[in-house]
Amino acid sequence: MKSRVLITLPLPAAVLGPLKTKFDIQVWDDGPMPQLQIAELAKTTDAILCSLGTAITADLIRSNPQLTTISSISVGVDHIDMEAATAAGLPVGHTPEVLVDSTADLALALMLATTRRIVEADRFVREGQWSSDWSTDFFLGSDLSRATVGIVGLGPTGLAVAKRVRAFGANVIGWNRTEREVSGVRNIALDDLFAEADIISVHTAATPETHHLVSADRLAMMKPGAVIINTARGSVIDESALIAALSSGRIRAGLDVYAQEPIAKSSPLLVLDNVVLMPHLGSATAATRQAMIERAYVNLVAGLEGKPLPWCANPEAYSSR
Ligand code: DGY
Repeated sequence: MKSRVLITLPLPAAVLGPLKTKFDIQVWDDGPMPQLQIAELAKTTDAILCSLGTAITADLIRSNPQLTTISSISVGVDHIDMEAATAAGLPVGHTPEVLVDSTADLALALMLATTRRIVEADRFVREGQWSSDWSTDFFLGSDLSRATVGIVGLGPTGLAVAKRVRAFGANVIGWNRTEREVSGVRNIALDDLFAEADIISVHTAATPETHHLVSADRLAMMKPGAVIINTARGSVIDESALIAALSSGRIRAGLDVYAQEPIAKSSPLLVLDNVVLMPHLGSATAATRQAMIERAYVNLVAGLEGKPLPWCANPEAYSSR
């Protein structure tokens, strides 16, 4: 009998084809999968192939001891109750490494968009407001080559951003939860990083320890006119405090991730000019998404064949089996 796989998001036919030949698959391709449907369909599945939009709760894990594998098309696993998965001996596959460069590129794009006011200026031109002559104080921004860039979290993406901003001539300072010496990055305490940096780029995973790491107090330490970029996870920044700081006009921001995704239509962020907003596109290049899907596929097949997942987010699950 073929193993049964629940796929909680639409996938290209080229991916579904090989999956269909190997497994008995059920695909949800009707928008975000409601939690009730997941709970219902999970009862008759051996593995779940999902991504960020599907919450894999402790309850779902505990009620389905037949599950052998969760494979997520993402590096982040904060949508999955990892404690429950590990306790249940359920390995969770994820897709590290392959999205580092794409995410770092987007962080740079947001830095340039905010410091050179690209989105604001684009709107200005399209709205037909460009009627004055060239002048010395027209739409002034700031230079990356003259900036001190503070990297919060010196994991692979933080390091890829450090490499990029160094190439622009920036002075780079960094903070990591565990002390890390990185050439070309001056280690600094987190509060000092917030006080010294002209641009701060956030690259920590979402964990209970990093929840609201960027607090109201730390936002208040930022220099007037400084910029904060977040391509990591919304929960790392206290979003209400960020909205207050942006509304006062004291700082600017470039965001790809939010406390709630999709962002609420009533979010005050939507009407602020000093923030550039992206809909969680850090890894959204064709090549990177392909590589992520390939890793998730390999993880899924390994799990269903009873082999260790090559990219397992909780290898300790194997010892609690
Ligand atoms: C991930 O894989 O966790 C990313 O946030 C997707 O872009």
